[in-house]
Amino acid sequence: MSDVLSSPLRVGSATIRNRVYRAPVLEGAGSGPDAADTFTKAFVPNARHGVGLIIQGSACVYEEGRTSPGMTLVHTRELMLAMAEMVREVHDAGAAIFLQIGHGGVYAMEGWHEPYASERKGPLLAASPLPLTLRPSFRGVPVHVMSTDEVHALCRRNGEAAGWAREAGYDGIQLGSANAKLLDQFLSPFYNRRTDEFGGSPEKRAHILRLIREHVADHAGPDFPCTVKVPAEKAPPFARHVTFDEAMRTCELVAEWGYDAVTPVEVSVFPDTTLSRGGVPSSLWKNQSMKARLRTAAPSRVRRATLKAGSYVGGRRNPFDPVWNRTFFREAKRRVSIPVFAVGGIRTGEEARQIVADGEADMVGFGRPFYAQDDLAQHILGDDHDAHALCQSSNLCVPAQLLGMKGVCYNPEVKKLKAAARQTAD
Ligand SMILES: Cc1cc2nc3c(=O)[nH]c(=O)nc-3n(C[C@H](O)[C@H](O)[C@H](O)COP(=O)(O)O)c2cc1C
Repeated sequence: MSDVLSSPLRVGSATIRNRVYRAPVLEGAGSGPDAADTFTKAFVPNARHGVGLIIQGSACVYEEGRTSPGMTLVHTRELMLAMAEMVREVHDAGAAIFLQIGHGGVYAMEGWHEPYASERKGPLLAASPLPLTLRPSFRGVPVHVMSTDEVHALCRRNGEAAGWAREAGYDGIQLGSANAKLLDQFLSPFYNRRTDEFGGSPEKRAHILRLIREHVADHAGPDFPCTVKVPAEKAPPFARHVTFDEAMRTCELVAEWGYDAVTPVEVSVFPDTTLSRGGVPSSLWKNQSMKARLRTAAPSRVRRATLKAGSYVGGRRNPFDPVWNRTFFREAKRRVSIPVFAVGGIRTGEEARQIVADGEADMVGFGRPFYAQDDLAQHILGDDHDAHALCQSSNLCVPAQLLGMKGVCYNPEVKKLKAAARQTAD
């Protein structure tokens, strides 16, 4: 079973050299002149150490809609093409690279990050009027329910961005359609109560994915790999949410609609650490630099308290659980014939091999562990069957990316573990 991870995989027209991928996490690269350089520094070492595929963390298709200041904008062809040299260097180092594209919807930072809120050019985009439970936290924040034409324009923009991504050399795209972001807000009955073609049954709520797939084919070519995340949602008691069965049905639909791979994940209806289970992201109130940044972002005590409470409750309710999405990707794999990507709490070479060897998924993803180790893929793909990622899943990286800092590991324990590993190797 030792080389199951080393076999190549076709994802649409792309060939990935092995089964290990870097899951999308933000690098805090922003959109300035050094953005591409930040990605190069993060990704090229991963590629040199053998990773098969890098999925670049979410980049925003509209000028407004980033969820954090470090998120990269790709709303123009020029900004996308600025990535071309970075993409070439990743290819030269042997890996494939997909770009995740998305939009934060009601969780765009223009809603909570004061410097961006005061310069906002328009309201937050929403699928429907905010759920009642959210309204107190959004007091004073303008929210605009997208018209049917605006949703069509959003689908077209995703297609255009895919076309530019192909020009920049990317091997494919992934839609940022989970994690309570705008596309998830369309998929979710918690947010979506529309009565037009984009609302109603699970199939109608997923219609936006069908249109985006068509626009991607029009703008980037039908053979350009287009992949998608499909969320199942946890919600407070009695709240509407995407159920396991609905998520599995959506996996079947996206396969019918021509998507080239699917990543099923369990997330929360709120943007909390259900998507990255582990520790409470306490650096938000313990780390001096992050505290200062949070004060700038949210000068109002009430807003700060809400952000901290959300982080605390989300973290406490979602402790680390190894391979927590297994039920979802295993069932999706049973139902669709396109490749299924696994992600979430995978930490060892043995887990990764078992997932592929048992046919539970086709690609195995690591998110936070790549912040901690540039050379992670080499360990996972190597002969050491005890290979274990150093990441402690503390989630100290989460507030950092939220506040626009670099996407790296912020856990001092991991630094000690790395030093000890280096000493042993010497
Ligand atoms: C700081 C941070 C940023 C993330 N950014 C994204 C993102 O841009 N798009 C996305 O789909 N998932 C994002 N995720 C979720 C990861 O891709 C991954 O699913 C999650 O961390 C669980 O995998 P892991 O246990 O290997 O870290 C992010 C997670 C973290 C911690």
